[in-house]
Amino acid sequence: MALIHGGQLQQVAEKYKIPMADWLDLSTGVAPISYPVPDIPLSAWQQLPQQNPELIIAAKKYYQCAQLVVTNGSQAIIKALPELYRQRSKAIQTVYLPERGYKEHAQAWEIAGFTLHFYHDVLPGITELEPNSVVVIINPNNPTGQFFSRDIIKRYHQRLKQLNGLLVVDEAFIDAMPDEQSYCSEVIFGGDCEENNLIVLRSFGKFFGLAGIRIGFLVAGKYWCKKFSELLGPWQVNGPAQIIAEHALNDRAWHNQQRNKLHTLRERQETLLWQVFSSELVSAIEGCDLFLTLSFHQANNAKVLYHLLCQQGVYCRLSDEQDTLRFGIALEDDFKRLDSACRQACNILT
Ligand SMILES: Cc1ncc(COP(=O)(O)O)c(C=O)c1O
Repeated sequence: MALIHGGQLQQVAEKYKIPMADWLDLSTGVAPISYPVPDIPLSAWQQLPQQNPELIIAAKKYYQCAQLVVTNGSQAIIKALPELYRQRSKAIQTVYLPERGYKEHAQAWEIAGFTLHFYHDVLPGITELEPNSVVVIINPNNPTGQFFSRDIIKRYHQRLKQLNGLLVVDEAFIDAMPDEQSYCSEVIFGGDCEENNLIVLRSFGKFFGLAGIRIGFLVAGKYWCKKFSELLGPWQVNGPAQIIAEHALNDRAWHNQQRNKLHTLRERQETLLWQVFSSELVSAIEGCDLFLTLSFHQANNAKVLYHLLCQQGVYCRLSDEQDTLRFGIALEDDFKRLDSACRQACNILT
């Protein structure tokens, strides 16, 4: 069954009978500021895409890792991983996942017949992990924003190595944070220390504001890189996307600028949302510099507010549990509209 995500503006626009161009779409965690797309040589459109060695160099530097595979988004890895993991380890397996989190992980493992255990806020007890089990950590988590330090992740990594299990760290939204928070640099590969107990996923489209080009990275040891390269085959990522990503990953000054801008916008938007909704209605605002998630004292207010905002052409993401609202970060020019739509929705609600 296809899962519902943000970004389905076409359907929402049809439902609320508002032309697509008139919406303020904050339904995803894609940055509202995009990396400026460089000129693309005609050859990149004409030729079948080969692996661009310059992109690999740029990506290894940006992700601070020794080995990676370029994919057409980390989703490709999420979907294919369970079947590949079964080939590696045939024993009965348990997968630990966040109760609230990007649901594609849970769906992929469930379809492949694994037993799912959901954890809430705290990771599963380290001594309770079963042999060959898999722990999925989304860091920071989408939509809760929960973040685990490298030290904590390392403890799970070590334990899963002993158990011949697998740690999956999904860092789709980590780019807006300082580089040293990422777990990518822990990936060891080659020689005797062949690392096959760790996979880190990186998403390109969110931080760089270019979700449409579909590119992502698997950071892992030799074993997983080989398995996925074989499975995905040639022409995974189109040539223009590889050129754009190469430029973007190399542009250190732009990364710093983007982080600062996103951080400032997030702070202002958080203040705006607290002012409009107030602590009488909202119990918490959590997230990261790419999205903000609102929890409500009365859970069903999320659904009502979602509908009232859509009626005004403001599209945010109602959680699968229908009890929180996630807002992507808006541009400063859109704050006024966001503010007045939220106020109007609040007035009708109360
Ligand atoms: C936590 C998380 N991981 C992975 C993905 C997949 O992103 P992509 O395939 O664009 O890398 C998403 C998409 O929204 C996500 O929210």
